[in-house]
Amino acid sequence: MKKSILITGSTSGIGRAATIEFASRGYQVFATYRSDAHRDELAAIDNVHPIQMDVTDAADLERAYAAVADEVGGAGLYAVLNNAGITYSAPFEFLDEKRAREVMEVNVMAPYRITQTFIPLLLAHNKGSHVKARVVNIASWAGLMASPFIAFYNASKSAVIGLTESMFYDLQLLDIHTVLAIPGITRTPLLAKTTEDGTATLDAMPTEGRARYQDLFAHYATMSAGSEGLPMLATPEKVARKLYKIVDKPNPRFKNNLSIDASLVDHVITRLPRAARVAMNRRMYQLDRAHP
Ligand SMILES: NC(=O)c1ccc[n+]([C@@H]2O[C@H](COP(=O)([O-])OP(=O)(O)OC[C@H]3O[C@@H](n4cnc5c(N)ncnc54)[C@H](OP(=O)(O)O)[C@@H]3O)[C@@H](O)[C@H]2O)c1
Repeated sequence: MKKSILITGSTSGIGRAATIEFASRGYQVFATYRSDAHRDELAAIDNVHPIQMDVTDAADLERAYAAVADEVGGAGLYAVLNNAGITYSAPFEFLDEKRAREVMEVNVMAPYRITQTFIPLLLAHNKGSHVKARVVNIASWAGLMASPFIAFYNASKSAVIGLTESMFYDLQLLDIHTVLAIPGITRTPLLAKTTEDGTATLDAMPTEGRARYQDLFAHYATMSAGSEGLPMLATPEKVARKLYKIVDKPNPRFKNNLSIDASLVDHVITRLPRAARVAMNRRMYQLDRAHP
């Protein structure tokens, strides 16, 4: 029987690559999208069932659950991959609360709500299989170490790590595996979105704010844009292959760094003295160019 997986944020980057990877390996993939423009593209991939879901919308989630339950029947669902995520770049002084809350909703509350909703289907899978169902949450090394200008991305990814660690215990009581997956910087459209976002934030600032941050943000934009072409950074396809291996293992490890930079941050940089990390970030982000 085919294994089945729900993947959120299947229209771009890691989620799209994971959708293609799992589907090509014979999984039945329930791939979520928001805009109708993406529906046909997903439906054209063998083994993929597009599911419309804004991960922050409770009614969408209810409909998604009903659609997946209808399709899998008593076989249940083998895996949930909570991948959909957004970033938000702004200096702390100009953070917008609505956008900050949106980041927390998409990156933290959605994995909670989606996982909780799908528990009955994960349990249904377990009834018919000795290989237990699993939930994978995508964090980031930004949850292990903070950087300037992404306060709520950092906050959300730290929260995902805490959420996932606690879920591990509670879902273990239900015989469901919980997995924390930590990508490093990956060449996806998220990088360009980060640059565009920073530029839009700068444009919306009052003159005084622009004077203070424009040099820093010009450098920040160059850094993000420059990353997009760096061959040393992982491609979404490579990350997707790693995710496949993790999800397909009968007993996956709890914590998985998905690229060298994620391992480096986890095992080396976060263990450096704080002063060294601060110096590194000040230099990388050229914070000395600030005009207070
Ligand atoms: N790229 C990196 O360097 C990197 C590093 C570490 C961790 N990550 C994490 O990896 C995950 C995937 O990121 P990515 O780089 O692949 O980003 P991406 O290319 O920007 O894709 C993000 C996906 O999330 C979806 N999404 C956003 N908001 C949503 C909402 N409210 N409801 C439903 N779907 C929503 C997007 O759908 P639409 O097409 O409808 O917008 C898109 O499919 C995220 O959790 C991200 O934080 C990425």
